[in-house]
Amino acid sequence: MARPTITRTTVGIVGAGPAGLMLSHLLALSGIESVAIDRRTRREIEETHRAGILERDSVRMLVDSGVSNRVLTDGHEHKGIDLRFDGVSHRIDFQGLVGASTWLYPQTDVFIDLATARERDGGDVRFGVSDTTVVDVTGSQPGIRFTDAAGQAQEIRCEYLIGADGSHSVCRKEIPQAQRRQFFREYPFAWFGILAQAPMSAPELIYTRSDRGFALISQRTESVQRMYFQCASTENVDDWSDEQIWDELQSRLAGDDGFALKEGAIMEKTVLPFRSFVQEPMRYGNMLLAGDAAHTVPPTGAKGLNLALADVRVLTEVLERAVLKNDTDALDQYTPRALDRVWKAQHFSYWMTTMLHADADASPFDIQRQLGELRSVVGSEAGSRYLAEAYTGWPTA
Ligand code: DHB
Repeated sequence: MARPTITRTTVGIVGAGPAGLMLSHLLALSGIESVAIDRRTRREIEETHRAGILERDSVRMLVDSGVSNRVLTDGHEHKGIDLRFDGVSHRIDFQGLVGASTWLYPQTDVFIDLATARERDGGDVRFGVSDTTVVDVTGSQPGIRFTDAAGQAQEIRCEYLIGADGSHSVCRKEIPQAQRRQFFREYPFAWFGILAQAPMSAPELIYTRSDRGFALISQRTESVQRMYFQCASTENVDDWSDEQIWDELQSRLAGDDGFALKEGAIMEKTVLPFRSFVQEPMRYGNMLLAGDAAHTVPPTGAKGLNLALADVRVLTEVLERAVLKNDTDALDQYTPRALDRVWKAQHFSYWMTTMLHADADASPFDIQRQLGELRSVVGSEAGSRYLAEAYTGWPTA
């Protein structure tokens, strides 16, 4: 095999999704060099549909750091959500409860803005690489070896190695079993997600609990809508016709108020996996993990991307101190500071999930308790405020 071309940089980043690119962008603002690589092509990442809700601080991060203002012009501010059960909608007024909003702005657009900003600012990002391995993660010059999109062997040597390489992370596995803890929770269902060519059915999101299971009405643009409904994790999307999908969604949303979804051609169908996962610690030697590489949440509540960006905020701060001020003790703070929020978000995503989904094993007691829980949340300001606070995002510790 040909000898690799060696690139030296300060921070080597495995994964050029939103977490990796945001980190690279923020580091560049502080004058810290980085190189980011990704197995996927730029096009493949752009075409992967993920969640669409940004917390207040995620929006601020994109705008204030100069990535793009597009979220403010093309995104939609949401000042609340609807919780719907027993066929009745209840608005959770985020502005009134906690003075905050969220923004409907799809993850693919966040990625496009970040990739465009890195290109504009001359950032070194290599998409479409293969055979990625990481080496010497506990040494002073950790490395990333890969084959670039042109077939050339490459090696990056850096001071700090970042694993922002998603839920199938190769970096995560570098932490020896004896020195890591993994926490899992499986759920006995998944989400069936669709993109449909249809007008909006509601101005904000509707999270619905029905006896047939959960459904979520979200949006993308004036003419493209995103919706999800709880399904079996083994569900095959090709077994469902457009008509069956609309019937299922309509029956989960039905109520005495006569609410009906506006239907249209379904452009895409996917089953979304569902699990809660955390690996600790998030730092091992000179390698630090961010985003899905260290934790995944079930999609209910749209925390995944927001949590990755929150990791990056803390990571940028500790790397700045380590690199610019030689304060390597700062690195020790990364795991506890990031995990504080990770576990809050794990609880919130788990709570939204179990409060709204139908469990085939639920007893009559379980079902009445779940409805009592929902009435407690919507029935008083104290009940609603936690949801509003968690949904719009906690301040960074
Ligand atoms: C979306 C996805 C979510 O998981 C969620 O909780 C809210 C919105 C979305 O894709 O729009």
